[in-house]
Amino acid sequence: MTHKILILAGDGIGPEIMRATELVIAALSEKFGLDVALEHALMGGAAIDDCGEPLPASTLELASSSDAILLGAVGGPKWEKIDRARRPERGLLALRSELELFCNLRPAVLLAPLAASSTLKAEVVTGLDIMIIRELTGGIYFGEPRGIQVAADGTRSGHNTMVYTEHEITRIARLGFDIAGKRQGRLCSVDKANVLETTELWRDIVTSLAGEYTEVELSHMYVDSAAMQLVRNPRQFDVIVTSNLFGDILSDLAPMLTGSIGMLPSASLDANGKGLFEPVHGSAPDIAGQNLANPLATIQSLAMMLRYTLNESMHANRIERAVARTLDKGYRTGDIYSEGAQQVGTLEMAELVVASLGD
Ligand code: IPM
Ligand code: MG
Repeated sequence: MTHKILILAGDGIGPEIMRATELVIAALSEKFGLDVALEHALMGGAAIDDCGEPLPASTLELASSSDAILLGAVGGPKWEKIDRARRPERGLLALRSELELFCNLRPAVLLAPLAASSTLKAEVVTGLDIMIIRELTGGIYFGEPRGIQVAADGTRSGHNTMVYTEHEITRIARLGFDIAGKRQGRLCSVDKANVLETTELWRDIVTSLAGEYTEVELSHMYVDSAAMQLVRNPRQFDVIVTSNLFGDILSDLAPMLTGSIGMLPSASLDANGKGLFEPVHGSAPDIAGQNLANPLATIQSLAMMLRYTLNESMHANRIERAVARTLDKGYRTGDIYSEGAQQVGTLEMAELVVASLGD
């Protein structure tokens, strides 16, 4: 069966990390029999430049009809001044929402050769392996009403609404229990139930489901405390399940414990397991176009796609082994460089991974 993959390179370093990742796709299909058909489309700032919209209807249509989507990164200073509703980030949010990609998986795994790249002491982070599950299509990101209003006297006020329905909480919590059950069996639900009613309901519902998953040990933590614990003793966590906004914040913090946000992939899945796969990092406009960016987060996002959506675990394992071996050999992009390593550029890193695919 041919898998239809839509490639959305996006902005900033997006195009170069995607070119690098396409080398891996090409090698898998030429040498290892992966059957894929690639399509390319515009999204984010690149789409705004082309047609004035961050998510053109044609891109959304291609996204809906493909089996999986691989996204680079969107946004950059060039588009920060335009009307809020048409900024590049809105394209990404619309895509998540239109495709109902409510389940965002963001693993924070420390690969052994990178222990020295973490800003924390090696003894605190060695062996770190956390899965953050972020609710992605609800909460304050999408709640209505929202906006900025000007009162009669000219003073302005801004407001957003944090809202979760029972259904939204239940479906993400169940995924949390399922995934924890397949890992070390520890699920930590992160909320702010001491202050916010929305998350009081969140805690109630998660607690009420626990009885159905006796193999999973459930704990709860307030988000401020979770941020502190992630830095103090991150290995206490196995799986974290949390709301959209808290997940956004914690999933920048946790990956950084692993040395570089440039290493980490993510998956955003719908109820049928179809998904959008993207690196956790942003478009890094400061280093765009210089062959400096680390392509490994995107390459590992491809591995997640093969595992979670396309049912091609063998190819996913092949990629992950090749990445580990390339790092073992001492090759590093600038963001994960440490003394004694050999620094390489974006494309070289991908070529090295390609060369290790068959090892
Ligand atoms: C992320 C990003 C996005 C988010 C932005 C670009 C809209 O920070 O994927 O974490 O806030 O969800
Ligand atoms: Mg974020």
